[in-house]
Amino acid sequence: MSEPAEQTPTNEIQEQAVRLGLDLSRLPQHVGIIMDGNGRWATQRGLPRLIGHREGYKTLRTVLLAANDLGIRYLTVYAFSAENWRRPQDEVRGLMDLITQAATDELRIMHQNNVRVLVAGRIHEVPEKLQRALKKGVETTRNNTGITFTLAINYGGRAEIVDAVKQLVRDGASPEEVDEDAIGKRLYLPEVPDPDLLIRTAGEMRLSNFLLWQSAYSELVVMPMPWPEFSTEALLEACLNFQRRVRKFGGVV
Ligand code: IPE
Ligand code: IPE
Ligand code: MG
Repeated sequence: MSEPAEQTPTNEIQEQAVRLGLDLSRLPQHVGIIMDGNGRWATQRGLPRLIGHREGYKTLRTVLLAANDLGIRYLTVYAFSAENWRRPQDEVRGLMDLITQAATDELRIMHQNNVRVLVAGRIHEVPEKLQRALKKGVETTRNNTGITFTLAINYGGRAEIVDAVKQLVRDGASPEEVDEDAIGKRLYLPEVPDPDLLIRTAGEMRLSNFLLWQSAYSELVVMPMPWPEFSTEALLEACLNFQRRVRKFGGVV
């Protein structure tokens, strides 16, 4: 009996992946990224933190298109946490402006690349201009069939669970009707599968309230470089690391 045929590469990134030893038929379906370290990257260079966020935005464009070409089906990135409002006012405003600008300027290239955009978080609490830009992005790309790219903005994992439970109560659920499925269906994006691989940059080994419900069985890969230094190669390395893991979901292999 022959080995199951590995997928043949159809573009440069897939070729690079195969050269590195990746099995294209076993890629993580959904990758989540905690893009951390923009501030440290800037501070180390004597630059304002916002310059770090700008560099991080450029990295995100590269990584999103690479993930799409590689064949990853879902990419979810933590762009602004529900706790990030605690930062100095000028950093918060700078981040909101940057995300608004990015959502506006990148829409054409995302659409051209068949990317479907989604958002997760308490979006009604962000500046209206950003809300409008996000809405336009989601509506324009809704029928695209490439990677599903979710921006987590004003997102908190606990807040998401609270919002789901509130909805459950509004729906008049009885205690017997409360189960994982009932809560899961009321999360922000019930149609998006749980992340298989969660990457955090800049070395910190914590979730910081990202996808708490959905990451129950995600494989965690923490990488040392700050987010502005992340790259296509680093994404491939994280996928390789993922493919070496044995996932058991509580069972026995
Ligand atoms: C991540 O980089 C980006 C956001 C949280 C928006 P940080 O700004 O947290 O960078 P560090 O952790 O201070 O280096
Ligand atoms: C998590 O990073 C949030 C984002 C990457 C958007 P933080 O930098 O806010 O997390 P902590 O404060 O180090 O836990
Ligand atoms: Mg940080």
